[in-house]
Amino acid sequence: MKNVSIDTITQAFLDYCGDDTDPRTMFVLQKMVEHMHAFAKETELTHAEWARGLKFLTDAGKITDDERNEFVLISDVTGMSSLVDMIGSQHGGTSSSVLGPFHSVGAPLLPVGGDLKKDNDGTTVVIEGHVRDIDGNPVEGAVIELWQTAENGLYYSQDGGQDDFNLCCSMKTGPDGRYAMTTVKPAPYKVPDDGPVGELFRATGRTPWRPSHLHFIVQADGLKSLVTEVFANGDPYLDKDAVFGVRSDLIMDYVETSDLDALPDDLEVGRDVTLPYYKVDFDFTLVSEPN
Ligand code: BEZ
Ligand code: FE
Repeated sequence: MKNVSIDTITQAFLDYCGDDTDPRTMFVLQKMVEHMHAFAKETELTHAEWARGLKFLTDAGKITDDERNEFVLISDVTGMSSLVDMIGSQHGGTSSSVLGPFHSVGAPLLPVGGDLKKDNDGTTVVIEGHVRDIDGNPVEGAVIELWQTAENGLYYSQDGGQDDFNLCCSMKTGPDGRYAMTTVKPAPYKVPDDGPVGELFRATGRTPWRPSHLHFIVQADGLKSLVTEVFANGDPYLDKDAVFGVRSDLIMDYVETSDLDALPDDLEVGRDVTLPYYKVDFDFTLVSEPN
């Protein structure tokens, strides 16, 4: 098409696309280009501003490798990851939250009551709860994966001083749907801010911090898999999570106690916990798989 104008360029783009384009692809592409063109018109975008935006993406490409994906981080810190997550999630179950970049496949399977703390520094946390379906029935054989930072705020994959799969495990719930483990309290964590995302944070006065959290994936036959995070009540960053992952039902109390009689009796460590220790109770509710 010749002589496109500000008013016709969006339609001109659409006219270039073939009739046999997959309908969903076409719809998503159409909406994306419509919004991009509207954005440029609304902001009266200058060449210099658009070039700055392209440099941001180019820099993201340069810093991205097999270990680090700046584009995923851009999606996280602009709220896109959380938005897509919320659009796709069903109501009624435990809220989902961002996966983040530090999930490792293949964490060791521990029995219910297993110990993750081992010789990690920090106060013992005893976390236990049940996996249930939306009707409240216990889910036997649900597979729970947990991963978290150590007390220094680093995941094992970021820290040569930690063993592989340190503070990561999977666990299968028993007939009563119960899980339990001992671990340590994770520390608040700063998303990587040494790349373009860091520049974005500094340019906009934002904090790169995330409140301390435990990551979970919970999967069971016939139920929708849940990717979520559990946060600590009172954490200073709950209201300014850099990646918008906090939901009220995911905030839990770390209850400090020295009551050894309150320990579950199936802990691998028995009564060998720090005193005081923290007790955390958190139940997961899984919704049915959509038909
Ligand atoms: C995290 O939970 O560790 C994380 C999540 C999103 C972006 C970066 C880090
Ligand atoms: Fe995390």
